[in-house]
Amino acid sequence: MANNSDLTITWLGHAAFLLEAGDTRVLVDPFLTGNPAAAVQAADVEPTVILLTHAHNDHVGDAVEISKRTGATIIATNELGIYLGGEGAETIGANIGGTVAFDGGSVKFVAAVHTSAFNDGNGFVAPGAAAGLVVRVGGQTVYLAGDTALFGDMALIGTEGLDVAIIPIGGHYTMDPKDAVLAVGLLHPSVVIPCHFNTFPLLEQDADEFAKNVSAATDATPVVLTPGASHTL
Ligand code: NI
Ligand code: MN
Repeated sequence: MANNSDLTITWLGHAAFLLEAGDTRVLVDPFLTGNPAAAVQAADVEPTVILLTHAHNDHVGDAVEISKRTGATIIATNELGIYLGGEGAETIGANIGGTVAFDGGSVKFVAAVHTSAFNDGNGFVAPGAAAGLVVRVGGQTVYLAGDTALFGDMALIGTEGLDVAIIPIGGHYTMDPKDAVLAVGLLHPSVVIPCHFNTFPLLEQDADEFAKNVSAATDATPVVLTPGASHTL
């Protein structure tokens, strides 16, 4: 087991990540069932807390089922928290600008430029806004952008002092690699990890090319993971 000063970040595929520090296991956007890039099955994760960026099915994923099985609380934006609470999960609803503490760390909800809705089978329901997450755990500060376009106030998020930025590069629904390099310039993280690419043919991108451009244009160190792979700080 890692000691409390170590943080291990594992990409579970698409936008799903596990952040582990000591006894704290933070599961973010656990879309595993039906995810062609999933590195684990929903039944095999044992988080102590679950964080969600927004209500899209490729982010909420298996959150309710995992919460019910493990007892891990889901922390999400307010309306999404209430919605998932109605499905029997343990939830805490917060909102953009707010910080919620959990055992072993905290999460601050920050802006994202994106939409947030479920298809519940009868059409779309839209519980709450899309957010990014600034997670403090294991002595590190990790920004998970969720799904977002490039926006200028990423420079304000950068003032949080980011050890790691996890950002989408897939294009079509989010920033593409070109905008993502500009985002890194605003966020000033020590390390940048790309995600939300190559899950589906529509999101095909060259992450190694992105990494090269990050190194050329910014001071950040790019770390390109494959689903299932980890980076330890
Ligand atoms: Ni989305
Ligand atoms: Mn998405």
